[in-house]
Amino acid sequence: MTDQHAVVVVTGGGRGIGEHLVRAFAADGCRVVVADVIDEGDALARELSEAGSEVSFVRTDVGDEQAVGALADACRERYGHVDVLVNNAGIYQDLGRKQPFEEIEVADFERVLRVNTIGVWLVTKALVPLMRARGAGRVINTASSTVHMGVPNFVHYVASKGAVIAMTRSLAKELGPDGITVNAIAPGLVETEATRALNDPDYLPVAAGQRAIARPMTPEDLVGTVRHLASPGASFVTGQTLIVDGGVTFA
Ligand SMILES: NC(=O)c1ccc[n+]([C@@H]2O[C@H](COP(=O)([O-])OP(=O)(O)OC[C@H]3O[C@@H](n4cnc5c(N)ncnc54)[C@H](O)[C@@H]3O)[C@@H](O)[C@H]2O)c1
Repeated sequence: MTDQHAVVVVTGGGRGIGEHLVRAFAADGCRVVVADVIDEGDALARELSEAGSEVSFVRTDVGDEQAVGALADACRERYGHVDVLVNNAGIYQDLGRKQPFEEIEVADFERVLRVNTIGVWLVTKALVPLMRARGAGRVINTASSTVHMGVPNFVHYVASKGAVIAMTRSLAKELGPDGITVNAIAPGLVETEATRALNDPDYLPVAAGQRAIARPMTPEDLVGTVRHLASPGASFVTGQTLIVDGGVTFA
């Protein structure tokens, strides 16, 4: 388990997988900063604070360098350091239905890269100085098993997540000397309203049937792996991408 009182920043923590991670770290006694563009992040922070946890919200567009700088300033002023950064924010459910590669607009491709790839780099760049000062830190990125599966008609998203896996390895080498580990999770298809909207309704039961553990995947299925990567026990694991998909792809 992550050290109690650890300062944990979760981007895109306002809903979906990020919200589950925020709830889990708050339940562990961590001090959690939710960085998101949606009001639900604020509501979540209020709800958990009223229940006795230390959770705050900083409205942040991860693709905007100035906003990310303001997030780092807020963390510095509030806590002086950051222990764990979970780069979870991503454009996924807002992409609409899958499209053949020839039909994807340049503006959409650029928007996905700006948030899913450049956003990970910008937030890491801004928060690493708050880890370096203490010679320790954990960066946990959110990739996707679509990279390993080569999912068709989703080329901008898959490319953006492939770059996250590559960045994870490169940053692990750069940040190892500072005592900072950098890893990624690659979730399989999590059944949420978003995935139901994006995918053919017949596909979800088919996807569940392809798993070694043949059941629907939920956001809770990711919590244990992220907790582990953030924990002291994972201090010698870095540059890795852990596929959490119930056993569909193996790498
Ligand atoms: N749901 C899945 O099946 C699945 C599978 C593999 C990977 N993922 C990845 O997991 C992460 C979470 O996905 P989810 O299913 O919870 O999706 P979601 O759309 O429910 O959540 C994404 C969160 O990111 C936030 N966000 C979007 N753009 C942002 C920006 N510019 N700045 C800050 N926050 C921003 C959203 O407001 C939202 O809170 C994403 O990176 C996604 O690509 C999801």
